[in-house]
Amino acid sequence: MELLKLILFLTTSSLLSHAEKNLCPPQYCGANPLPIRFPFMLQREQRQQPENCTGFPGLSFTCSVVDGGRDVPLLHLPHSGSFSVRRIDYLMQEIHLYDPAGCLPRRLVSLNLTSSPFAAARTEEITFLSCPRGGAGLAEVGCLGNATSAVVAAPAGRLAGAMGACGTMFTVPIAVPWDGGGGDWVSEDLRLTWSFPECQGCEVDGGVCGFGRNRNGVVGEIMCSSDHGRGKGLEVFKTIALSIVIPVIICSICISCFVCIVEWRAVRTRAAMVAAPSPQPPATAVGLDDSTIESYEKVVLGESKRLPGPNGATCPICLVEYCAKDILRCIPECQHCFHSECVDEWLRLNSSCPLCRNSPSNCLEDE
Ligand SMILES: *[C@@H]1O[C@H](CO)[C@@H](O)[C@H](O)[C@H]1NC(C)=O
Ligand SMILES: *[C@@H]1O[C@H](CO)[C@@H](O)[C@H](O)[C@H]1NC(C)=O
Ligand SMILES: *[C@@H]1O[C@H](CO)[C@@H](O)[C@H](O)[C@H]1NC(C)=O
Repeated sequence: MELLKLILFLTTSSLLSHAEKNLCPPQYCGANPLPIRFPFMLQREQRQQPENCTGFPGLSFTCSVVDGGRDVPLLHLPHSGSFSVRRIDYLMQEIHLYDPAGCLPRRLVSLNLTSSPFAAARTEEITFLSCPRGGAGLAEVGCLGNATSAVVAAPAGRLAGAMGACGTMFTVPIAVPWDGGGGDWVSEDLRLTWSFPECQGCEVDGGVCGFGRNRNGVVGEIMCSSDHGRGKGLEVFKTIALSIVIPVIICSICISCFVCIVEWRAVRTRAAMVAAPSPQPPATAVGLDDSTIESYEKVVLGESKRLPGPNGATCPICLVEYCAKDILRCIPECQHCFHSECVDEWLRLNSSCPLCRNSPSNCLEDE
């Protein structure tokens, strides 16, 4: 009973701490597995969270069906339109975006992060060139090309001299995803970072950032609801308790099994002891009637004191040596003989031969 209470307590306490920790559970856009949580938030009409769970101003998503029916969160930037969100790194405070229309380079050319909380992880001067098809061996921006000419883009400083066939379109600072070395950057996502609210320290500690209330009860301060102190203590306690409870449960199961087996064996032995002699008593407990006893052969000992069958010189019942003229009675089946008065008394109470302990009818079979 105490064990049951302890288990119940552990379960409920773990549930409680879990609930406390996830006061504002992450939100999802339909079946999209990307968790959306502070400082991000789904727009008011699309969220199912409690009113207390608010995101940071300017960091709200809408859910939109793009990419052939998939639900994708969209981030709207003030001067640059909407981008689809592929990934959010809450620890590094970095968000990975792509163009819902599939032409990120075109969006990058016109990207303007003024009055958004984001900054480009890295910007670089990029020159866009228009080259004849079959061209220059540079990263081609497929979505900007047309039937007759391809558009290539490269960091301005890296363009070799021999670009004769190509015409420079423009050079603009672009938020670039790569760390140097051209490559297939065109297919990479746009990575933007945000520096406020600063929740990295909280994330590192495994806490959850969010708006808290100050002393006047006004919501607005950004706080880290880390349930460390108490939570860790509880965790340690639970670990210890479980490491005790589980062996105790296993032990008690083992002990009860052992007790069961011992009990069962005892019962079986007792049953066997009761059952085993049961075929015997009806034969031994009931004596023979006088006419049967009288039908057994009587022998009067002669002077020679010679006895028939396998018999000694003394009566096995009274242990007195036979004398001449003693009247003996022999049990026909086993040929054991006794003083008549001794064996008659016996046979009235028992139907078995007192020497071989078998009922007269079994004597021969045993020999
Ligand atoms: C919001 O938070 C306050 C104080 O933490 C609490 O009393 C209230 O019930 C919460 N409301 C909702 C809708 O969660
Ligand atoms: C970005 O947009 C703002 C507001 O429209 C404008 O003032 C600013 O010059 C733009 N910046 C760039 C680099 O175009
Ligand atoms: C293809 O693009 C180039 C450069 O952008 C442009 O000069 C040309 O007119 C375009 N051709 C067609 C058929 O659109």
